[in-house]
Amino acid sequence: RVVILDFGSQYGHLIARRVRELGVYSVVLPHHAPLAEILRHRPRGVILSGGPASVYEPGAPQCDPGLWQAGVPVLGICYGMQLMVHQLGGRVDRADHREYGPATLEVEEPGRLLAGLGPRVDVWMSHGDRVDALPPGFTVLARTAGSPYAAVEGGDGRWLGVQFHPEVAHTPRGREILANFLYRVCGCKGGWSMAEFVERAVPALRRQLAGARALCALSGGVDSAVAAALVHRAIGPRLICVFVDTGLLREGEVEEVRSIFTGLGMDLRVVDARDRFLAALDGLADPEAKRKAVGETFIRVFEEEARRLEAQVGAIPFLVQGTTYPDVIESGGGAAATIKSHHNVGGLPADLEFQLVEPLRDLFKDEVREVGRRLGLPPAIVDRQPFPGPGLAIRMIGPVTAERLQRLRACDRIVREEIRRAGLEDRLWQAFAVLTGTPTVGVMGDRRTYGEAVAVRAVTSDDGMTADWARLPYEVLDRIARRLANEVEGVNRVVYDVTSKPPATIEWE
Ligand code: XMP
Repeated sequence: RVVILDFGSQYGHLIARRVRELGVYSVVLPHHAPLAEILRHRPRGVILSGGPASVYEPGAPQCDPGLWQAGVPVLGICYGMQLMVHQLGGRVDRADHREYGPATLEVEEPGRLLAGLGPRVDVWMSHGDRVDALPPGFTVLARTAGSPYAAVEGGDGRWLGVQFHPEVAHTPRGREILANFLYRVCGCKGGWSMAEFVERAVPALRRQLAGARALCALSGGVDSAVAAALVHRAIGPRLICVFVDTGLLREGEVEEVRSIFTGLGMDLRVVDARDRFLAALDGLADPEAKRKAVGETFIRVFEEEARRLEAQVGAIPFLVQGTTYPDVIESGGGAAATIKSHHNVGGLPADLEFQLVEPLRDLFKDEVREVGRRLGLPPAIVDRQPFPGPGLAIRMIGPVTAERLQRLRACDRIVREEIRRAGLEDRLWQAFAVLTGTPTVGVMGDRRTYGEAVAVRAVTSDDGMTADWARLPYEVLDRIARRLANEVEGVNRVVYDVTSKPPATIEWE
């Protein structure tokens, strides 16, 4: 495996992804991680990421200098290379001008790092400082017009530095360069796969949970489902899953989750709390107030159920959470356990008296999906679009009532059916209906109607942070609009949301 030391690069976790795509397990540690912590991971190599600082400034982020005596191969990228040069006795200075954008690498001596790439390689540069003098024992592998030391090698071939960014898509052959470092320099084998992950995780979970029971709150989403399936593989019936029916879910969702998980032989308890959520939402129209009401009710229901189960089966010391690597990175990458809160149902408070089990902490979303597939979870779960914790409550402007929930569920089903029929599901981040709360006049037969306008929202996105409205074919929009107005009582107008995020958000509330 490989350790990546993060110097605050916008590309830090991208390096981790690229390394894993090459079949080598990687972990990201903060740059100040002591040598002992780095070595605890028994890395075959260390990668120093880029970062915004200048190495010669006071307080610039450093890595443990013991790294240079540890006998581990090191690849420094951009700031990481400058730091390597700086710590080993070379000189780094401000460049005359920032070098940003594409550049051509002229290879002088490929060494192991640039082996097989040929004399000229397109790369992506983004830096304001540059190396002016190499440390003793270092040689140049390649230069660009703006950087005489664009790729360097020292320490008898164990220390490598590149001024450019091999991890970004703009360096088309960056993958080969990283592969050279991993396979040729570090001697990695490249067998990391989700099959291996499952094979290792199951006995580790068995040890961690030694004979004890665990509880898992399923949200219907991918992460909690995969976490539960993995823990179930390890401890079988000692895992109890709780699925709270909030009444704010999509049509058929409760039955689907029930049949999938019981079909896998798992102990699933569905708690019908529909009335409690409706009561908690009664009279609320403000989106944040709705979120809070749903969140608090969820916690109360879950706690009660946990207590009830303990009275039934005995102590349940562990709580399984579907925390994934992006959650860990976003919350500072520290060792402290993170509990998803604001953006996840099952956002449970830290003072619940459980020990957390987070078997997916090291995985990216696509890896989580792959693990799910290996564990036999069907596409209906594994490829599911994100669904907000507060559910349909934040997809209706104004108050939440049983009648409006029923209306929205019918609209949502039609939107999803037509998107699926058109084969567009895989290309969209989310597609759904929103009750706009706007009363509008229509005509049906010879009758004037006064109904509610429904908005259709469909977006593409990589991570939900930004999004673009989807250019759905007119025919698909037409079918959706006709069906919504014809089939759903109380709907007489349909609009399509053509705002991106920003400035809008994906959800209307
Ligand atoms: P926005 O609306 O903020 O949504 O652009 C970004 C992504 O997050 C989901 N979302 C939520 N998920 N609890 C959740 O679990 C929430 O309160 C919540 N609000 C938005 C949304 O569906 C989208 O995928």
